[in-house]
Amino acid sequence: MKELTCTVKSNAQIACGIFEMTVTLSDDVKVKCGQFLNISTGNAANLLKRPFGIMRINGRDVTFCYQLKGEGTKTLSLAKPGQVLEVTLPLGNGFSIPESARKIAVVGGGVGVFPLLSVVEGVKDRDYYSYIGFRSEKYACLLEDFKASSKSLTVVTDDGSIGQKTNAVSAFVADYEDISPDLIISCGPPVMLRALKSCLKERGITTPCLVSLEERMGCGIGACLVCVCKKSDGSNARVCKDGPVFNIDEVEL
Ligand SMILES: Cc1cc2nc3c(=O)[nH]c(=O)nc-3n(C[C@H](O)[C@H](O)[C@H](O)COP(=O)(O)OP(=O)(O)OC[C@H]3O[C@@H](n4cnc5c(N)ncnc54)[C@H](O)[C@@H]3O)c2cc1C
Ligand code: FES
Repeated sequence: MKELTCTVKSNAQIACGIFEMTVTLSDDVKVKCGQFLNISTGNAANLLKRPFGIMRINGRDVTFCYQLKGEGTKTLSLAKPGQVLEVTLPLGNGFSIPESARKIAVVGGGVGVFPLLSVVEGVKDRDYYSYIGFRSEKYACLLEDFKASSKSLTVVTDDGSIGQKTNAVSAFVADYEDISPDLIISCGPPVMLRALKSCLKERGITTPCLVSLEERMGCGIGACLVCVCKKSDGSNARVCKDGPVFNIDEVEL
């Protein structure tokens, strides 16, 4: 983990309330897919850096996408190329994709779609069956990027404005037998991950499933315990340090 400065290279809106930002780091870092960064917002009044999943790294250029939420993301959306921000990375454990996982189902919803692109683009020579869901067409983004790196891509929306009117979990479960994946990876809102866990349980599906969790964070480096989640064995885990990626059976959702 390094604490660096970075210079904004680009920062553009790609869908309703969703921005893609690329920053150039002041030093080299090695990043694993599914890890995240903590970045300052550009306003000193926002004391805490904000966590975002790293989507892509190319030399010292790091790209992530963010949805406008509150004060911090609003300020970040105003950052102009050339502006210098502070960044800490890489953080968290990331996705460990075993060599034996050749067919991988990717199930993402909302902002959870962004970090999954780091796997699909970053871990080569696998067959990715991607299922990504958005509220509606105006929030949909990165479709071409997923399409380019997936064997198949299914896009769904809550209102049916693109693709089927369903959610990513239901679309994936409907195709499960045909794909018969070696591994499932998922990231999305808690309600989506809970639905995935109960669908797998109900159907007796024992395929390994890795989920990336999102919790409110303070420090992002394991010190403040703001991000603690419950594990299935009753113990606690820090999402920032022990996660954000867990085996779906390992955590209470
Ligand atoms: C590991 C991880 C990866 C994430 N990746 C992405 C991503 O790729 N794209 C994206 O749009 N969002 C992502 N988020 C959520 C994102 O961090 C929050 O939406 C953002 O911090 C909100 O900041 P704000 O100042 O606009 O909102 P406010 O609600 O004003 O934030 C106030 C404080 O609460 C914290 N906070 C608020 N919501 C969250 C949240 N959901 N998770 C963590 N901290 C939160 C903020 O960091 C800040 O310290 C991720 C969160 C985590 C934990
Ligand atoms: S955010 Fe501080 S311990 Fe995880």
